[in-house]
Amino acid sequence: MQNFTLHTPTKIIFGKGQIAQLSNEIPKDARILLTYGGGSIKYNGVLSQVHDALEGYTVEVLGGIEPNPAYETLIKAVEYVRHHEIDYLLAVGGGSVIDGTKFIAAAVNYPHDDLWEILTTCGAYITSAIPFSCVLTLPATGSETNNISVISRRKTGDKLHFVSSVIFPQVAILDPEVTFSLPSRQTANGIVDAFVHTLEQYLTYPANAKVQDRYAEGLLMTLLEEGPKALKEPENYDVRANIMWTATQALSGILGAGVPQDWATHMLAHQLTALHGLDHAQTLAIILPHLLQEKRSVKHAKLLQYAERVWKFTEDSEEEQINHAIHATRQFFESMGVKTRLSDYQLDGSSIPAMIKKLEQQGLVALGEHQDITLDVSKRIYEASI
Ligand code: NZQ
Ligand code: ZN
Repeated sequence: MQNFTLHTPTKIIFGKGQIAQLSNEIPKDARILLTYGGGSIKYNGVLSQVHDALEGYTVEVLGGIEPNPAYETLIKAVEYVRHHEIDYLLAVGGGSVIDGTKFIAAAVNYPHDDLWEILTTCGAYITSAIPFSCVLTLPATGSETNNISVISRRKTGDKLHFVSSVIFPQVAILDPEVTFSLPSRQTANGIVDAFVHTLEQYLTYPANAKVQDRYAEGLLMTLLEEGPKALKEPENYDVRANIMWTATQALSGILGAGVPQDWATHMLAHQLTALHGLDHAQTLAIILPHLLQEKRSVKHAKLLQYAERVWKFTEDSEEEQINHAIHATRQFFESMGVKTRLSDYQLDGSSIPAMIKKLEQQGLVALGEHQDITLDVSKRIYEASI
């Protein structure tokens, strides 16, 4: 096992009716800006639950944070916060609203004028952030308890992330009932995203990290079991609860502590969203099976472990077991309604040179657990994904 430092300070409040706890967590004299997305929280009752919980507080409201949150929108929000004496943020939404709110929190007192620098330097110069909490409405990204934020800049076609020790949410409210209203597409997206997060911290090479391995296998098997049920029974509380808790843990930091990681699928996938606007999970479902195929020899031992322990493929030759596991992974995504080829999204691969150029500009030229996913390898993965 590798050395690691793990700090996951977000307080998690999980369960039915727990939005009401906000008043026990947020200081009474806070001047709050509640941030949200396109309005789902208005029709599913989440916004009114939050307002009820915050009765007596000073609360201003700012909507319009879009999926794959746009830098262009967020910098306006930063100005708003600077001019309205806001001292606490409350994100109510999915990963996009939470990521956008992390950006606002870190940008308000950023020491330099160019706020895009936060992304190009991966948060290196952030010194402080406004305190904030979140009410999660879409289990997927793990943003609710981690210190990562992914922001897109529409004008330049960039989708970049930053990390900072000051952008952990203080409190994350996880009420599975608020996910009953998710459209199937977003339910499936969340399950695919959590599945891929788990695989990217698991399918590398053995590090004799037995707890992390079995933890990852447990999360994967839970998603395989509960994912299809969530589509069939969207109001099944236990199913939603298991998915919500799995997605949080898939990217809370604990799974990747002490083990090698391979975030190449995410890096290649981000270019597809930036250029073509595909959902985050759709892009992962396109890239992952081809990346596993391309890197199957260096990932051999863990792919075999994945095949045997998660999929129970034990009969055939090792290579056959790995073939079956990669195929079954793709089939799982498809069975959830998330297509796995560029052509399924009416893309013919003509944008591959542009995506390779972006990877190069962003310095993403040696990805993977062995830093051996060069631009040539990325190109082959994109081409295989058509
Ligand atoms: O905007 P509203 O109206 O709220 O609707 C949203 C949005 O249209 C809707 N939705 C959310 N909760 C709902 C709901 N609709 C009905 N009922 C509910 N309870 O779902 C749509 C998608 O929401 P979004 O927040 O965009 O989805 P997700 O949570 O998948 O977040 C995706 C973003 O997170 C980033 C992605 O790259 C992408 O930008 N990621 C963040 C990570 C992190 N911070 O650690 C890691 C991930 O790998 C990922 O990159
Ligand atoms: Zn993801």
